[in-house]
Amino acid sequence: SEEAYAASLAAELDGLIEREGPDTVAAFIAEPVMGAGGVLIPPRTYFERIQAVLRKHDVLMIADEVICGFGRLGRMFGSEVYGIEPDLMTAAKGLTSAYFPLSAVFISEKVWSVLRDGSPELGTFAHGFTYSGHPVGCAAALANLDILIGEDLVGNAARVGAYLQAQLRERFAHHALVGEIRGIGLIAGIELVADRATRSPFDASLKVASRVAQRCLEGGLIVRSLPTGHTLAFSPPLCITRVQVDEVLDRFGQGLDAITDELIRQGEWKAA
Ligand SMILES: Cc1ncc(COP(=O)(O)O)c(C=O)c1O
Repeated sequence: SEEAYAASLAAELDGLIEREGPDTVAAFIAEPVMGAGGVLIPPRTYFERIQAVLRKHDVLMIADEVICGFGRLGRMFGSEVYGIEPDLMTAAKGLTSAYFPLSAVFISEKVWSVLRDGSPELGTFAHGFTYSGHPVGCAAALANLDILIGEDLVGNAARVGAYLQAQLRERFAHHALVGEIRGIGLIAGIELVADRATRSPFDASLKVASRVAQRCLEGGLIVRSLPTGHTLAFSPPLCITRVQVDEVLDRFGQGLDAITDELIRQGEWKAA
């Protein structure tokens, strides 16, 4: 079960920290949902169990919210979705919707108080970049956040995201090339397989996912073939509508079917 898997991962982490020595481990970093790594949804109870291990060893929890943050999962932060209580949080993309480069690190009172109380004795904790606090980036972020909140785009991501997730499964769960559909809110991944029964992947040299992505692009749709090689990822704008989701999935279906036909025609694959 998902719970048993989560328990085994937490036990593995516990053992690793014990072996390394808890005093040598500063922090554990994770994305609430792993994005470019394959759109991997944490198994149920995963973060609850992981955080219990971290608390036991006094290891900090860093949530990497670069993809999940600012609405992607249908809540402002992915940490809210999975009950993560981060000591530090990293953010970037959604902070300005990429209209200007800006990234940020949020720190909790627990971390801040160490810096505050230690500075008089040890000197200021110098932590700056050439472009730290760039006013244009900050202005872009404030304008972006006004729109995000004012137009309830996080709510839209939850509502239209639920529609996207349901439609993806309804339309593609039984497709001959589809092994698994994962996602939440407005992030989704479709993992392609050569054999649905054994879940075995395509030979990497066939570049099936890249070919589907390329064919979709020719049809006017951007989907990303992730570096793992077998998963196609969707990450539409948070303002997307249901009608646009339908269009995205129509075009995706055309791209997927075209490459399915091509694989058969070229003798690269045949249905089991
Ligand atoms: C989850 C995640 N974390 C961190 C990064 C790197 O962010 P930055 O380029 O702002 O350092 C990325 C970039 O794609 C990312 O997807």
